[in-house]
Amino acid sequence: MSGIERVGVLGCGLMGAGIAEVCARAGSAVVVVEFDDSAVANGRTRLTQSLDKAVAAGKLGGEDRDAALARVSFSTGIEAFADRQLVIEAVPEIPELKLAAFRRIDAAVRAPDAILASNTSSIPISRIAAVTSRPGQVVGLHFFNPVPVLNLVELVSSLLTGAETLERARDYAAGTLRKKVIYAKDRAGFVVNALLVPYLLSAIRMVEAGHASAADIDAGMVNGCAHPMGPLRLTDLVGLDTVLHVANSLYEEFKEPHYAAPALLMRMVESGMLGRKSGHGFYNYE
Ligand code: 3HC
Repeated sequence: MSGIERVGVLGCGLMGAGIAEVCARAGSAVVVVEFDDSAVANGRTRLTQSLDKAVAAGKLGGEDRDAALARVSFSTGIEAFADRQLVIEAVPEIPELKLAAFRRIDAAVRAPDAILASNTSSIPISRIAAVTSRPGQVVGLHFFNPVPVLNLVELVSSLLTGAETLERARDYAAGTLRKKVIYAKDRAGFVVNALLVPYLLSAIRMVEAGHASAADIDAGMVNGCAHPMGPLRLTDLVGLDTVLHVANSLYEEFKEPHYAAPALLMRMVESGMLGRKSGHGFYNYE
């Protein structure tokens, strides 16, 4: 067993809220830290709405919902992580933000054997671990969106991650959270995004080239390959900014053309068309 009962989550956006939810539903006491009061309020709403959805779908009892919510507390001060045994960082996929977050987490967490985990989609864990005073205790725990629904966690070790840290992180993800855990080497994109993102970029290039409409490309993959959603709707779900950041990390690491972001993706992000979260992407959500 991991022995982990007290968890911290930094960031309560799409991913952070989902991670906090699954940890609380699994019985952990969760402290969520966001940068200001309005981010806390948004995070709390996101988490509560998702729990309500689970109740409405018959996946969770009303009492279990209340118990899960009671296990989550929110703070704007990173000192709230002092007694945490595991902290999972889920700030936006921007390298400078991730590194700054880890410096602050490292300074705040007091437990000597605490695990510091990143939900990064694509940034090498070694780079993140290097800014902390305890690189042997840093791992990647990469969840998938929507976190309460999708069963996978990628577990990523750097060259410096200790065996005990890896084992406890695995036990927590597989044993406590009951997720399917796969191991990935410390390469940009790990396993899933290294396969998924070139596929999403190819679909965007098809739209850009006027090859087919977004709706027809999506209908092709949903009806022809039984995917739950097509690549452009999935890009909207993940967030165009996140897809762009992951593509940039992959391209920086491998310099392969299929990882290069299409101009259309860059222009849409520059225009604030970030997908579902902004109301506009390849589809409209307003
Ligand atoms: N807790 C528990 N269950 C929940 C829930 C919650 N909070 N919210 C929804 N559910 C359940 C529903 O009850 C439903 O269950 P059922 O299949 O037994 O009826 C199921 O989840 C699907 O939910 P919905 O009916 O609300 O929605 P859809 O059927 O339209 O499915 C979807 C939506 C789950 C998003 C599905 O289209 C899907 O899986 N799409 C693919 C998503 C994907 O590929 N994500 C990975 C992105 S990559 C990533 O995240 C990595 C990052 O680094 C970029």
